Amino acid sequence: MGKSFLVTSGKGGTGKTTVAAGLSVCLAALGRQVVCVDADVGLRNLDLVLGLTDHTALDFQDVLTGTASLREALCPHPLVPGLFFLPAPVTVRGGRLEQAAFNEMIHVLQDVCDYCFVDCAAGLSAGFSLVAASCDHALVISALELPALRDAARTIEALERHRSPKTWLVVNRLRPKTVDRPGGINVDDAMDLVGLPLLGLIPEDVAVMDAVAQGLPLPLLGRTGAGQAMHDMALRLEGHAAPVKPRRIQATY
Ligand SMILES: Nc1ncnc2c1ncn2[C@@H]1O[C@H](COP(=O)(O)OP(=O)(O)OP(=O)(O)O)[C@@H](O)[C@H]1O
Ligand SMILES: [Mg+2]
Repeated sequence: MGKSFLVTSGKGGTGKTTVAAGLSVCLAALGRQVVCVDADVGLRNLDLVLGLTDHTALDFQDVLTGTASLREALCPHPLVPGLFFLPAPVTVRGGRLEQAAFNEMIHVLQDVCDYCFVDCAAGLSAGFSLVAASCDHALVISALELPALRDAARTIEALERHRSPKTWLVVNRLRPKTVDRPGGINVDDAMDLVGLPLLGLIPEDVAVMDAVAQGLPLPLLGRTGAGQAMHDMALRLEGHAAPVKPRRIQATY
């Protein structure tokens, strides 16, 4: 039985899609079978970040309604063996998406892969409710800023009401010059504010946008700052020693 991870944040634009794609690629590169599910109905972007825009025809609504099997709907990544992608519908085609059916789909995926990542929509409304109880793990993505951290804390409360998954904080878009600035929020403050252990620190890195522009998943551009951070997080999820050293951010990145 594999592990499922909800990638969430509350606040929009924190890097959920970037992290879901990056971790999926890195874990597949480590030899794992990985499924990456776009659950951002209406505003899906994971296909772009994985470099799969022209490769998808079916989506998870086809699976939930029985129009297609999972085998038919899963899109194998042409450049990353072991990585499969399941798109979100652009619009919901009649009826509504059922939470129980979505949970069951993730459960089935866990039976056939090592890792399943669900890229969540921003906010705590319908898109969040659809997926909130689907995974046994969660990654909450936030910048080192109060609005994002407060939304992260609310998201964690909402997750606990649904399923109480094992949850980590991922700090994204870290700018070394802003860390340990007098009066600023440091990584320890962030962990205290949200009450979560830290899985990783991802630096602000122009390669993130370059990768999307080139239609390539970030880790395939090499070990840039953000790509290296994704690789380190993947190693930690695999149980390898790749310690997080918040106090040495400036030296590391
Ligand atoms: N570490 C980073 N360095 C530089 N740019 C980044 C980094 N992480 C994310 N970005 C950029 O920030 C923007 C938002 O990222 P992303 O789409 O992954 O966030 P999101 O949380 O999925 O957004 P949404 O809530 O809209 O789904 C994108 O333009 C992305 O390229
Ligand atoms: Mg997104």
